Amino acid sequence: MSLLGTPLSSSSDKIMLLGSGELGKEVLIALQRLGVETIAVDRYDNAPGQQVAHHSRTITMSDPEQLRALIEKEQPTLVVPEIEAIATGVLEELEAQGKVRVIPTARAARLTMDREGIRRLAAETLGVPTSPYQFCESLEELQAAIDDKIGYPCVVKPLMSSSGKGQSKISGPDDVAKAWDYAMAGGRVSQCRIIVEGFIDFDYEITLLTVRALGADGQIETQFCDPIGHKQVDGDYVESWQPQPMSPKALQGARDIAQAVTENLGGQGLFGVELFVKGDQVWFSEVSPRPHDTGMVTMATQWQSEFELHARAILGLPVNTALRMPGASAVIYGGVDAKDVDFLNVAEALRIPQTDIRLFGKPESFENRRMGVALAADKDLETARANALKAASLVKVQAR
Ligand SMILES: Nc1ncnc2c1ncn2[C@@H]1O[C@H](COP(=O)(O)OP(=O)(O)OP(=O)(O)O)[C@@H](O)[C@H]1O
Ligand SMILES: [Mg+2]
Repeated sequence: MSLLGTPLSSSSDKIMLLGSGELGKEVLIALQRLGVETIAVDRYDNAPGQQVAHHSRTITMSDPEQLRALIEKEQPTLVVPEIEAIATGVLEELEAQGKVRVIPTARAARLTMDREGIRRLAAETLGVPTSPYQFCESLEELQAAIDDKIGYPCVVKPLMSSSGKGQSKISGPDDVAKAWDYAMAGGRVSQCRIIVEGFIDFDYEITLLTVRALGADGQIETQFCDPIGHKQVDGDYVESWQPQPMSPKALQGARDIAQAVTENLGGQGLFGVELFVKGDQVWFSEVSPRPHDTGMVTMATQWQSEFELHARAILGLPVNTALRMPGASAVIYGGVDAKDVDFLNVAEALRIPQTDIRLFGKPESFENRRMGVALAADKDLETARANALKAASLVKVQAR
């Protein structure tokens, strides 16, 4: 049996994606191109990735019983987590029993699913530079942490959240209670634990896509993509570009951090290492053990996109992280709350030279939901950025 065999045959091996949004969809397409049989799992029907996979399953992935039952029934050879909110204990259990291989490892999925596991690993075990931080379980503890250790300004985040949900900046004492309440309302699971981090006044922030893939000698090698710069608004990515210019010292520092963190997490696959940079100084922020939203730009800029790199790395195939041309991405937001929407002005957007668009096919639009992305490539990075932003702003999402 082999993952590179004949899909839908009686003996074929399967890869199961846990999470089938826009990032999972592109990983699934990359796997499909290599003839791999795929199962797309999500919490709702007709998720983007389910529309391009051989099989679709809808479950609550944070429910251990549902997750265990599904994996034991489908018996995939590889399980590829594409989101954070998964019952990772079940993955660790099944991996330890030798029933399944988790990408990159079940331990990496557990450590990165909340901010505490990965922050303690990076800062306390590996000694990697991070913002000063403290974990708190009440408003009183938060106030004390700020007064005694962290200072102003600082940032409060729920332990489990993404895309900036529940996250806010505290500029002075008047903001503390509000930030606490906001974090309590915005966390993914009901828990009263938050992280407060000192605010890093960085010059720019990057995602360093880092790939652990097999070399010709069968050993795992670490390779880096060119750094991706990005802009976040309210903790959510709105624009990214590649390559982000960096001083040689900062680039080396970023690679050293990415190498240390990904080596500890282990396994095969692509990681998105988020870093803050000021001059030559680099701080680790967090890491996704999977393709990163800001990395969608690589569909326009690299010979192999981050999704193809992930697919190849997990299949044990060689990878090429080289840049093909500078480029940029800009998010297309829903702008409306509606089901079964239409997209307008796509032709106008695509008339901009060297511009492309991905529409994710989400069955429902929300005002702040990411519905698509505009991509642009150009020898000149600023032209690429302007074109991606223009294309994204032209596309309008309309209720029927
Ligand atoms: N300590 C900090 N100092 C300065 N800015 C910060 C700090 N922490 C977070 N930010 C800003 O907020 C953004 C989102 O933070 P973070 O990545 O921790 O949250 P997230 O919810 O996991 O976001 P995502 O899931 O989109 O990556 C960062 O990319 C950065 O721009
Ligand atoms: Mg982040």
